[in-house]
Amino acid sequence: MIVLVTGATGFIGRTLAARLAADGHSLRALSRHRNPQVTQARLPPDCRAFTWPEGGAVPAEALDGAEAVIHLAGESIGTWPWTAERKRRAFESRVNGTRALVAAMGRMGKRPRVFVSASAIGYYGDGGDRLLDEDASAGDDFLARTCAAWEAETFKAEALGVRAVAVRTGLVLGRGGALAKLAPAFRLGGGSIMGTGRQWWSWIHVEDAAGIFAHALTAQGLRGPVNGAGPNPARQRAFADALARAVHRPRLWKVPAFLLRLGLGEMAGTLLEGQRASGAKLEASGYLFRYPELAAALEAALARA
Ligand SMILES: NC(=O)c1ccc[n+]([C@@H]2O[C@H](COP(=O)([O-])OP(=O)(O)OC[C@H]3O[C@@H](n4cnc5c(N)ncnc54)[C@H](OP(=O)(O)O)[C@@H]3O)[C@@H](O)[C@H]2O)c1
Repeated sequence: MIVLVTGATGFIGRTLAARLAADGHSLRALSRHRNPQVTQARLPPDCRAFTWPEGGAVPAEALDGAEAVIHLAGESIGTWPWTAERKRRAFESRVNGTRALVAAMGRMGKRPRVFVSASAIGYYGDGGDRLLDEDASAGDDFLARTCAAWEAETFKAEALGVRAVAVRTGLVLGRGGALAKLAPAFRLGGGSIMGTGRQWWSWIHVEDAAGIFAHALTAQGLRGPVNGAGPNPARQRAFADALARAVHRPRLWKVPAFLLRLGLGEMAGTLLEGQRASGAKLEASGYLFRYPELAAALEAALARA
């Protein structure tokens, strides 16, 4: 398939691009970088890169003949502090970016068959102990509102006759993302329970995250939202213990919720609240996890880091 990927230079995108190339797909990438050769140098050989200026229109030649589009691009949500400006950029880069991409598909005589966009399990807000399938309602915090608006733009592709999938991605474990921030602290013996430690973290190894996007291209029956998290979510306390074991250090600390909120502000919610995502829809579509167990996923992710 000819597959156009946005955000291919990012944490998930780089693993995905390598995976798609290995699967024999013909790759194209959209990046903000002005010089496509610089983008191309970061991606598998034969990948063609195109410049998509921030807030601008999608170049038609990037979509010309594309059979599938995978959309990962968006301003990072994991960077502290969450200023009003950073939140605006995080929201608008996703919502306006998706709108521009769908509008560009609409202008094509021959449209892609499938559009797979990232979303996040933050869609559900704080889910408590409930097992959350894709019919669970959206939360009401910043991330939840961002995901709901982002998915609403994604599913407009269906009106164009394009199968649309939003992968509600969990906490991705690999070289980058949250683990790149957590692991150094744990290696220094600073591993800790955060708040009560009872909140659920639905994690996924980066190779499975990339695997799900690749799977969605050909899983014809898969459409709408799908949880992109491993089959064994862990409470934060269990996650911290597993990470401490993986770096061979004790987990000694307990950081009270009020201290995290004092230090991180609104962003502390991403650590203190959680979601226990059900993988039933994804598994029913035939996806097989490479890393279903946390200990093995952490070991592999840390070996890559
Ligand atoms: N990592 C996780 O744990 C996780 C969890 C849930 C959901 N997700 C979602 O999955 C997607 C990919 O995640 P990731 O961790 O791979 O992200 P990432 O490493 O931050 O990469 C995202 C890519 O988006 C592009 N980008 C950055 N800021 C942008 C902006 N303001 N406007 C337009 N494009 C921008 C960049 O590509 P160029 O510089 O080439 O333009 C960047 O490489 C994101 O949308 C993220 O929200 C990730």
